[in-house]
Amino acid sequence: MSHDAMPHPALSRRSQALSGRVRVPGDKSISHRSLMFGGLASGETRITGLLEGEDVLRTADAMRAMGALIERQGDSWVIRGTGNGCLLEPEAPLDFGNAGTGARLTMGLVGTYEMTTRFVGDASLSKRPMGRVLDSLRQMGTQVLEAEAGNRLPITLRGPKHAAPITYRVPMASAQVKSAVLLAGLNTPGITTVIEPVMTRDHTEKMLAGFGAEIEVEKDAEGARHIRIKGQGDLKGQTIAVPGDPSSAAFPLVAALLVPGSDLTIQNVLMNPTRTGLILTLQEMGAEIELMNRRDAGGEEVADLRVRSSKLKGVTVPPERAPSMIDEYPVLAVAASFAEGETVMLGLEELRVKESDRLAAVAAGLKANGIDCTEGDASLSVRGRPDGKGFGGGTVATHLDHRIAMAFLVLGLATERPVTIDDASMIATSFPEFMELMTGLGATIEQRGEAG
Ligand code: S3P
Repeated sequence: MSHDAMPHPALSRRSQALSGRVRVPGDKSISHRSLMFGGLASGETRITGLLEGEDVLRTADAMRAMGALIERQGDSWVIRGTGNGCLLEPEAPLDFGNAGTGARLTMGLVGTYEMTTRFVGDASLSKRPMGRVLDSLRQMGTQVLEAEAGNRLPITLRGPKHAAPITYRVPMASAQVKSAVLLAGLNTPGITTVIEPVMTRDHTEKMLAGFGAEIEVEKDAEGARHIRIKGQGDLKGQTIAVPGDPSSAAFPLVAALLVPGSDLTIQNVLMNPTRTGLILTLQEMGAEIELMNRRDAGGEEVADLRVRSSKLKGVTVPPERAPSMIDEYPVLAVAASFAEGETVMLGLEELRVKESDRLAAVAAGLKANGIDCTEGDASLSVRGRPDGKGFGGGTVATHLDHRIAMAFLVLGLATERPVTIDDASMIATSFPEFMELMTGLGATIEQRGEAG
């Protein structure tokens, strides 16, 4: 399954019990960062468990274009980095495809280099706001030589001779915005400080410390995190085992909850507390999810998740939980469709600027399949029905969004009538094995001929 211009529709049908033991691919956030930091550090970095999805492979290409040597050797990815401060000017534009994380973090990484770098992406990425990253870079001295209206791609950056260290308060809950400033700080003299009022995933901070960066985190009286990084230090290559992606595990997990009689185990899933909001929410809804064999794996907690089909009830998901489950709302909305009563999800403003406007895409997809929901400006309410009677039969517009595609294929495994999605090709950006893994567990998913 590859991401090309032709849409590839798919359809899922009510399935028999799902069972088995599976592993999901490596965490996408950690995979991007492993390649970036490995590509930047001096010496060798070895990565196992890397997500080999299209998004992450774009980051590998970008790092290669700036001087890193990156190759796959058996099960490992081996990198020889340039050394901090020694990236080379790329000869051609960096094409990040569908990947917001790759594009935004790399803008930070190169923004303080005195070189010219052009960023391009696909139709979805070209609609996404980049001003949130350019704002801090401009303060550090980066010139934006080219940008489409509203600070969108294609964008060309040129860094200053001497970047200025700044103190930057992140205006929205975004790990990408935080990370871009910290990465810009790596090539800036002195201390760059990021103030993060609402904590988001902390992989950049943790991993940079592992690579030897001088970075410290302190909480103030209001609970805001102050992250200080000292620029122009040495980074040294590391050995990294990427744990399974909780955002990918979410799909078989919710499928098992909804398909009667299911019992499955998803092994080696990242349990970093900035990423586990979905599990907490589903447990509050009554889901039987057992965290087994909790252990430390290279500085991150991982666990095996045993999931059994469960009766769910509606809950209110508070806005402060959003950063720890930001990519999981589409599939939570699917779970909520089968819960008794109403599920109210609050604080969803960031969903509007993901690979698609996910709030609108989810509400439209649910309605197309007979599910009662209300879309607010930054909220979604779903009034579920455990019997799912009359659900399904609709076609969902995925808007080049992998998580919309996977969430609605999960919906169709439990609805009375099948659910069709207009395009499954984007699934390859984050979870290339999705179809095989799900059908291997017993799910009925059919890929259709090309549309049109
Ligand atoms: C990510 C941060 C989140 C998330 C994305 C990955 C990261 O984006 O949605 O899938 O790896 O830093 P935002 O920072 O825009 O919330």
